[in-house]
Amino acid sequence: MTALTEISKKILSWIDARFPLTSTYKKHMSQYYVPKNLNIWYIFGVLSMMMLVNQLVTGIWLTMMYNPSSGGAFDSIEYIMRDVDAGWLIRYMHSTGASMLFIAVYLHMFRGLLYGSYQKPRELVWFIGMGLFVCLMAEGFFGYLLPWGNMSYWGAQVILNLPAAVPGVGDSLSTWVRGDFTISGITLNRFFALHVVALPLLLLILLVMHIIALHHVGSNNPDGIDIKKLKDKKGIPLDGIPFHPYYTVHDLVGVVVFLILFFGIVFFFPTGGGYFLESANFEPANPLKTPVHIAPVWYFTPFYAILRAIPDQLGGVIALAGAVAIPFLLPILDRSPVKSMRYKGRLSRIALGIFVVSFLVLGILGMTPADHPIIPFINNQLLAQLFTLLYFLYFLLMPFYTGAETYRLPPDRVTGGRK
Ligand code: HEM
Repeated sequence: MTALTEISKKILSWIDARFPLTSTYKKHMSQYYVPKNLNIWYIFGVLSMMMLVNQLVTGIWLTMMYNPSSGGAFDSIEYIMRDVDAGWLIRYMHSTGASMLFIAVYLHMFRGLLYGSYQKPRELVWFIGMGLFVCLMAEGFFGYLLPWGNMSYWGAQVILNLPAAVPGVGDSLSTWVRGDFTISGITLNRFFALHVVALPLLLLILLVMHIIALHHVGSNNPDGIDIKKLKDKKGIPLDGIPFHPYYTVHDLVGVVVFLILFFGIVFFFPTGGGYFLESANFEPANPLKTPVHIAPVWYFTPFYAILRAIPDQLGGVIALAGAVAIPFLLPILDRSPVKSMRYKGRLSRIALGIFVVSFLVLGILGMTPADHPIIPFINNQLLAQLFTLLYFLYFLLMPFYTGAETYRLPPDRVTGGRK
């Protein structure tokens, strides 16, 4: 043993006597047994985590140069873009990172639907994940006002007027949320505080809880089989392999591909064709100049379409809140005895297909002006109503179709993966 190894061992045992470093590493990395058949759908958790870290790190850098005041916010962004060394890179990594984070999170959630990852015993992992999703939406919304561009201003105007729909107290509620009679520097200051302190803190706490809850019950897999049921003499699951080094190396491939895509957009396509950064936001906020078409960033548009589908404002707000909240109920709504879509029946597959199409169509409708029909001669609002109905029916009818359909029994051992 070299002197260096000897010293490192001594340091480690000194730390271990005071802090459970080695045992935590073993529990969550080298002795955390993961099903050996995880596929590409399992990469998006790690990618979401990587993008969240990107947001936190670039966000801290931006905060050093950003000025959270109605007079200085827009100019400070211009200053970051033009005068700060690599400021443009940090800003584009943050703005593109937000979209990439939502892409990863949406695919991560879809994986949950595909393999029934919300079912017993992972209900809490799902609930905490939904908590993360709601916080991420709030984080994205608050962050969007900060550049104080014209779309920031008018987008916030639309959403902050929503509380006014509450009967009786609506107007005072709107004023209370804004902190002023119109959107002003006061609103900007509270959005800044929430965006850079409160929500990142909450997101980190929820993320740690998400991982702890997952590692307590173990990962699901594309077959939806519990690998803990079959163990060898040492108590190691027969179909499990250690997370480190097997999945750390495996995930590295996905991480590199995702990073190439991410930096490809950052360097060559940072506005994402107006979907990641809208053109109206390159103009300063102007309360006297409404953009021709007000639309939120793409990751909010399915929910925005649901809001606009209902002609009554209060009804729209209730539908919007319902659409965000209803996936929380999935662990209760799914009555199927099997988890994975591989073994569920035809009805579940058709329902999931219709749900995905509805979500995508609602996303397109939410970014299209109301008077530009996406299907000739069919009113956009009518389409939005139809797909809003289908969105909700996926959840509301789930107890019936998952309870009634014929399913196949999964095998005892996982299929595929390393032998
Ligand atoms: C910032 C957002 C999020 C991050 C960083 C994150 C991270 C992770 C990671 C690293 C894993 C383990 C690897 C994997 O199974 O992919 C995981 C698993 C999981 N996450 Fe998330 N997650 C986030 C949001 C969500 C959301 C919004 C949901 C759903 C509502 C969710 C539901 C789940 C479930 C059910 C699992 C276990 C999946 C299984 O074992 O099949 N997560 N998450």
